[in-house]
Amino acid sequence: MKRRLSLCAFVVAAIAGALPARAEDDAAIKTKLEPCFACHGENGISEIDGVPSIAAEPDIFLEWQLVFFRTGRVKSEIMGPLAADLSDDDIRAMGAYLAALPPINTPPPPDDAPAMTAVGAKLAASRNCGNCHGEGFHGQQGAARIAGQREEVIMKALHDYKSGARFGTGIAAMPEVVGQLNDEQIEALAHFLSRQR
Ligand code: HEC
Ligand code: HEC
Repeated sequence: MKRRLSLCAFVVAAIAGALPARAEDDAAIKTKLEPCFACHGENGISEIDGVPSIAAEPDIFLEWQLVFFRTGRVKSEIMGPLAADLSDDDIRAMGAYLAALPPINTPPPPDDAPAMTAVGAKLAASRNCGNCHGEGFHGQQGAARIAGQREEVIMKALHDYKSGARFGTGIAAMPEVVGQLNDEQIEALAHFLSRQR
């Protein structure tokens, strides 16, 4: 009984000790993310053309992207130098922090091309984008959250997979997916997905 009690006391002490440390970690990583949010938007929701929203993406996806930028496997004049100085610990902490932020929840922009949206919705279903990108295209594991991503960002990503500028991890899923898409279909998918929440 005595042993159990002291074990209990030990666990309580360990948890109590861990809490302030976590809060400190959170504050430290938040400070490191401040310059990132200058481009990627307050809380990771981007309001700048060509800059992706990074809130609520799966942490594995985010970590891979930062590693790709750091190693130059994905070339980006902007992100390359910014990722060059990040340590593995920074990347892990940033991935975890960003993944836990709430996703975009403002109403989508007015739909100026509902016919295109319908084409995009059909394509997303028939090409099984949700199999990898998860229910509602909210992202899972290494596959990005693509619901509510900026339209021009989705377009660029799909063209980059097509040109080979980007190819992702392991199974190289996306180059195979986009190989079967023409420009019009890419446009329709980006239009539809950017309006999902
Ligand atoms: C000067 C603006 C700017 C700053 C500062 C910036 N980024 Fe970026 N970031 C971009 C742009 C632009 C892209 C798109 C990359 C491309 O198309 O070349 C990007 C892409 C990304 C991506 C990939 C997202 C996706 O959905 O594909 C991640 C993750 C990311 N940035 C994280 C960060 C982090 C973490 C920081 C801070 C260390 C940061 N960014 C700072 C502009 C910026
Ligand atoms: C077999 C799995 C799979 C399928 C099917 C799939 N994707 Fe992906 N997708 C991925 C993975 C994995 C990534 C991350 C690749 C990387 O690291 O660059 C990704 C990345 C993306 C990105 C880049 C997002 C960003 O923020 O950088 C877009 C856009 C995208 N997919 C759209 C689609 C669309 C549209 C479809 C359906 C037409 C689709 N995907 C089908 C696995 C898949």
